[in-house]
Amino acid sequence: MANSDQPGGIINDVASVTSIVKAAMSGTRDPRLKEILDALVEHGHAFLQQVRLTDAEFEQGLAFVRAVGQACNERHNEVVLLADVLGFSTLVALLNNADESGRTPGALLGPFYRGGSPEYENGRCIACEGSPGAALFVHARVLDTSGRPVQDATVDVWQASPVGLYENQDASQPEHNLRGRFRTGADGMFTFRSVRPAGYPVPTDGPVGAMLAAQQRHPYRPAHLHFAIFAEGHATLVSQVFADDSEHLDSDVVFGVNRRLVGTFEHHEAGTGPHGDHREAYYTLDFDFILAEGTPTYPTPPIQ
Ligand code: BEZ
Ligand code: FE
Repeated sequence: MANSDQPGGIINDVASVTSIVKAAMSGTRDPRLKEILDALVEHGHAFLQQVRLTDAEFEQGLAFVRAVGQACNERHNEVVLLADVLGFSTLVALLNNADESGRTPGALLGPFYRGGSPEYENGRCIACEGSPGAALFVHARVLDTSGRPVQDATVDVWQASPVGLYENQDASQPEHNLRGRFRTGADGMFTFRSVRPAGYPVPTDGPVGAMLAAQQRHPYRPAHLHFAIFAEGHATLVSQVFADDSEHLDSDVVFGVNRRLVGTFEHHEAGTGPHGDHREAYYTLDFDFILAEGTPTYPTPPIQ
């Protein structure tokens, strides 16, 4: 066979494989893509050698990846779930959104972010009429790292219901229930009313659930709200705020909890506190989000 111009070589033994594969990829034009693929091959090959993967285990691993892909559809993203339970998503969020600037740390996007949530005026309720659960009033501010209010930031909010289900998982909730999009005022504030979310198990009916069971791990997340904040001149913040009295704060199945993201869910008796006109006991959450300077980016929703 004639030699091609492509660099590479003939494999002699285990020791020669990595360098020959890297040589074959050496024409990758985009330098960043080349850096990522080189490191993937180096670390991937080192991993295979470290565990001395057997043929049967390799087959099992490939079948697992295939099943993860096959478990995806427009309403469910098992690939994101896998990245989340392995801590990949949290590590990437922290690598990109946590530093000494004082900005609020990022947290994983998760598989339940949808684009196109309804736009609401401040103060609106994101829970549909007759939603069960204790009322939660959120008063939040968006500030820059010098403490100045960030006006006109767009804030996407999404959360699970008091029984721990997102609207897309639950036929009894209307479309886009417990999701909304708000805009900050001149004081950087955005406010809304909701119902207190519950902690919940991540979906366990697919291959990721089987992996968690094999690892003897519980599938629970502590109660939280998701926020994605977009503002001109600032890096986008994708984050979560966790209820301080929630179970599983120190064993979140997707490793999303950061001390700075634990918010005080203050309980008020009916007729007392800042919403004294509310006729039942309720909760308030006051929270400041701090954005770093930068250019906004827009995450691709994992589901439609
Ligand atoms: C979530 O918080 O929406 C979530 C994150 C990771 C896996 C499953 C759900
Ligand atoms: Fe969530």
